[in-house]
Amino acid sequence: MTDSSTAPKSNLAVSAMGDADVSAVVALWERCELTRPWNDPSADIARARGKASSDILVGRDGETIAATVMVGHDGHRGWVYYVAVDPDQHNRGHGRAIMAAAEDWLRERGIEKLQLLVRADNTRVQAFYETLDFEEQERIVYAKWLDGRPMTP
Ligand SMILES: CC(C)(COP(=O)(O)OP(=O)(O)OC[C@H]1O[C@@H](n2cnc3c(N)ncnc32)[C@H](O)[C@@H]1OP(=O)(O)O)[C@@H](O)C(=O)NCCC(=O)NCCS
Repeated sequence: MTDSSTAPKSNLAVSAMGDADVSAVVALWERCELTRPWNDPSADIARARGKASSDILVGRDGETIAATVMVGHDGHRGWVYYVAVDPDQHNRGHGRAIMAAAEDWLRERGIEKLQLLVRADNTRVQAFYETLDFEEQERIVYAKWLDGRPMTP
């Protein structure tokens, strides 16, 4: 049995990402297999970061970016994307720490509920979110590309 008092505590320093962090953030997302052919990660970063209703937070272990989260809200609910921890640094509490920072970011803006999407085949991450007290909700997600292109998986 694991004694939670001896569980590793994250030492990440979390802040909004800076101009110089773009290539390291994209590289981390690629290592975590979070990029998709239809999402240009640099464009995603440019659209989300440093905005009134969205930002990208990075967790640094020393000089190295070990974790990220894209956090934002639509005026009603909060959302996170690109939740990533360096594969060499899993199970050290970094995922919990970067998610706590995203939750704080939303609370500070008066947002009361955080939602997130998980691909059905990403079963490992489901256990992670359940550990963080997220509960699966029965919803059907509809989406369409606004430029008319066919739906992607
Ligand atoms: C999911 C991910 C962010 C977790 O990061 P992490 O730093 O390893 O997680 P933590 O060490 O903070 O774990 C937090 C808790 O979740 C639990 N947990 C983490 N991964 C788990 C897993 N695969 N199965 C069961 N529990 C898990 C830990 O045991 C820990 O519990 P505790 O705090 O009670 O001890 C990381 O695995 C990752 O980057 N995965 C690839 C990218 C990805 O799939 N992102 C999500 C897209 S929706």
